Amino acid sequence: MHVIRQYVNDNRQRFLEELFELLRFQSISADPKYKEDMLKTAGYVAEKLKSAGAEKVEICPTEGYPIVYGEKIISNSLPTVLVYGHYDVQPPDPLGLWHTPPFEPTVRDEKIYARGACDDKGQFYMHVKAFELMMRTNTLPCNIKFMIEGEEEVGSGNLGIFVSENKEKLKADVVLISDTSMISMDHPSLETGLRGLSYVEVEVTGPDRDLHSGVYGGAVANPATVLSKLIASLHDENNHITIPGFYDEVIDLSAQEREMLNKAPFDEEEYKKDLKVEELWGEKGYSTLERTGTRPTLEVNGIWGGYTGEGAKTVLPSKAFAKISMRLVPNQSSEKITKLFKDHFESIAPNSVKVKVNPHHGGEPVVTPTDSIAYKAAQKAIFESFGKDPIPTRGGGSIPIVALFERELGVKTVLMGFGLDSDNLHSPNEKFDIANFYKGIETIPLFHKYFAELSK
Ligand code: BES
Ligand code: MN
Ligand code: MN
Repeated sequence: MHVIRQYVNDNRQRFLEELFELLRFQSISADPKYKEDMLKTAGYVAEKLKSAGAEKVEICPTEGYPIVYGEKIISNSLPTVLVYGHYDVQPPDPLGLWHTPPFEPTVRDEKIYARGACDDKGQFYMHVKAFELMMRTNTLPCNIKFMIEGEEEVGSGNLGIFVSENKEKLKADVVLISDTSMISMDHPSLETGLRGLSYVEVEVTGPDRDLHSGVYGGAVANPATVLSKLIASLHDENNHITIPGFYDEVIDLSAQEREMLNKAPFDEEEYKKDLKVEELWGEKGYSTLERTGTRPTLEVNGIWGGYTGEGAKTVLPSKAFAKISMRLVPNQSSEKITKLFKDHFESIAPNSVKVKVNPHHGGEPVVTPTDSIAYKAAQKAIFESFGKDPIPTRGGGSIPIVALFERELGVKTVLMGFGLDSDNLHSPNEKFDIANFYKGIETIPLFHKYFAELSK
């Protein structure tokens, strides 16, 4: 631990400057306008892996954005850790709500503000620096492989092929990912599950053109009104989802599992205060932690149609749209749920409009083991650096690659995140505590150490 602390202390400023450089790239995978930035970011990641000591560093092309690969193989008799992360980020809009520009990293109150600060540039870069530390101090105890992709935020569409075509290259004993949250610095935790995702776009069409809302209003169904009603009907008075069959495959948690999960520290007042809401909302019969971690949900991510510009225009729109996501839990299947949604949504539409449901990406839910050597190594690492045992939690977000690694490579994942739920991921003013960044760099080498030791 002393060697680790010393190295981090001696290199604090440089680590931060390098992260800032990474954060300045506008690596927005959703918008084709940023293709050049995406490629430059991949180049920067490759260069940093190389200078940290990685070999066989490659920028692997895919049908979409490239995957950056690098490795350091010490010996075939040692275990191998595959580190996964993503260099792409979510679009920063609405830009007006940022206090400082999203791609000009700024420090306020000991926190780094920038798009990607936590999700996931700040977090995967901890692994690059921890690797550098182990190389320079001659303490790398196992083989290590890096796979940093550029399409996580758009559903990792090309990753499946890459993984199945490169099974030998990616062969590992465990996947280690820092792309999730922990409860707080005082309550370190490890996520032991992620939700799956089913994402669709719906289109409701009424008349074949926008109409004068005075001349035609009252005689023709308004697609925006119809869409609102259809969406409102997707939850009942207890906030259960009304799609027939939606809950059929859900595995209910045992009373004991529920009790365990609800033991995690959670301050509802603090939570509401942070979000500036008076009251929480959710499925009847479940606590907030259960609702976000263990229950499936349905959200409208965006809804539009008709006139949304300045001032008022009196118009009865021809079309209305919404982007809807459903978070899934074990043992739901993304493909099945998408089909259930489509069938249901089309069946409830009135004859006054036409509806189309277009599926986007999806991902499968996972639970990660808590009795594995790798999980124990993570527990020990956290205990040593935080002085406390980590609390197991269930994360509400999705990382589709985790289920894919399990299916294609037969390898399980440890989710060792150092972000906070309140770090504004995907929101304006995304941030990452500088302390968490350094803490991550200190904890990661301990994971490798204990994983190698316990694997003997
Ligand atoms: N890092 C997040 C997922 C996450 C965040 C998991 C916090 C647990 C806690 C990841 O980058 C992400 O945002 N994933 C997307 C899914 C993807 C298919 C677009 C998500 O969860 O919306
Ligand atoms: Mn992420
Ligand atoms: Mn994300």
